[in-house]
Amino acid sequence: MEDRIRHFPDGQLIVEDGHTPIGQIGFDIVECKRKRIGYVNLFYIVPEYRNTGLGKQLIQYVEKFFINSNVFEYHLNVATKNERALEVYKKNGMVKIKEENNKFRMKKILSHE
Ligand SMILES: CC(C)(COP(=O)(O)OP(=O)(O)OC[C@H]1O[C@@H](n2cnc3c(N)ncnc32)[C@H](O)[C@@H]1OP(=O)(O)O)[C@@H](O)C(=O)NCCC(=O)NCCS
Repeated sequence: MEDRIRHFPDGQLIVEDGHTPIGQIGFDIVECKRKRIGYVNLFYIVPEYRNTGLGKQLIQYVEKFFINSNVFEYHLNVATKNERALEVYKKNGMVKIKEENNKFRMKKILSHE
């Protein structure tokens, strides 16, 4: 997978099939209540490549990046009606922490091991 990812310094991963971009995930480290946490956004896989585990691999890649950066909690926002994304996040161990403006804020605590 690593060789299919172009890692941009601004926290944006683009996955390519050949030279065609087929997905992306954005991530950042931010300060929240005096704590450094990760934040994920701009997560998208083109429709023909969905449901093949690519989303899960991108999440795992970003989680490794956070752990290697000594960040053990990350958040994201997802539309309350986005059932597919909610399912993917739940399966990856994320939990809802609040609902605001038709969006859920979700978080995951990462293991130090
Ligand atoms: C969310 C998204 C990035 C996930 O990527 P993906 O490559 O499809 O994810 P995966 O293949 O790793 O996981 C798909 C899982 O969703 C489940 N799923 C598939 N279609 C579903 C549906 N219509 N409703 C609920 N769950 C669904 C599958 O059961 C699968 O689970 P599994 O790993 O146990 O088989 C992708 O669907 C997408 O780009 N969606 C549009 C943009 C978007 O909503 N982004 C998130 C914004 S917060």
